[in-house]
Amino acid sequence: MQVFSTVEEIRKIVKGWRREGLSVGLVPTMGFLHEGHRSLIDCAVRENDRVVVSVFVNPIQFGPNEDLASYPRNLEADTILCEKAGAHALFHPAPEEMYLPGFCTFVDVPDLSRFLCGKTRPTHFRGMCTVVSKLFHIVMPDRAYFGQKDAQQLAIVRRMVRDLQFDIQIVGCPIIREPDGLAKSSRNTYLNPEERRAAVVLSRAVALGREMMEHGERSAAAVESAMKCLIEQEPLARIDYVTVADAQSMTPVERIEGPVLCAMAVYIGTTRLIDNFFFGDPLC
Ligand code: PAF
Repeated sequence: MQVFSTVEEIRKIVKGWRREGLSVGLVPTMGFLHEGHRSLIDCAVRENDRVVVSVFVNPIQFGPNEDLASYPRNLEADTILCEKAGAHALFHPAPEEMYLPGFCTFVDVPDLSRFLCGKTRPTHFRGMCTVVSKLFHIVMPDRAYFGQKDAQQLAIVRRMVRDLQFDIQIVGCPIIREPDGLAKSSRNTYLNPEERRAAVVLSRAVALGREMMEHGERSAAAVESAMKCLIEQEPLARIDYVTVADAQSMTPVERIEGPVLCAMAVYIGTTRLIDNFFFGDPLC
């Protein structure tokens, strides 16, 4: 596996693969890779002749008071994981390589970015869409792989690809969980032992919400309020949101009639964690 840090180098290698008629998969990440990322890379390796993993902590998707500076980084461990997983190239550009002086062009999908995480992180999805579309232009993959844990991100990327007519298949991969249910996340590393124990409340709320819907509950408010009640019993947890939304438009619903996404963000101490489940046709 080769590691590249410039746009020119990665473009050159990918163009060479294309000339040979090889298919290319892209796994965009912010690094500090864990088994969730590993599952995306495994899937990409199965489905493509060549796989590029990008590792880039994208500054423009962090808000002013968010964790850009402290976001965990470990390029050495990421390189080993990618190599073991069978990726062919790791693209690790510096921020100056991705954002040239005077950069002022953004990609936005406002309708799907308004609710859920977009409420507390108003510029996050614009930053995410901008970097993902840049990576798509640079790598020009046949397929790109995203985790279901970031369900709103996945829905937004799908819409962006459709609206901008990128010739790229977006593949959504299931959430990978710790044995106690906590969804794998690079941010889990911020949790101290007590917080780590408390964090299981998110997946317990997911289980409760899903069970209520499976048993016929169709009021979004009833599901949200039962999940909130459960989370509030955990003293270290502070709810950002628990929302049942239409699975495609990401708009909150009152009645659970079509496919829905039930998503939440909860602070455990100062760490903001997310989790979710789909009910109905998951669309991914
Ligand atoms: O999900 C992430 O890690 C990031 O949002 C992504 C897709 C790599 C864009 O920076």
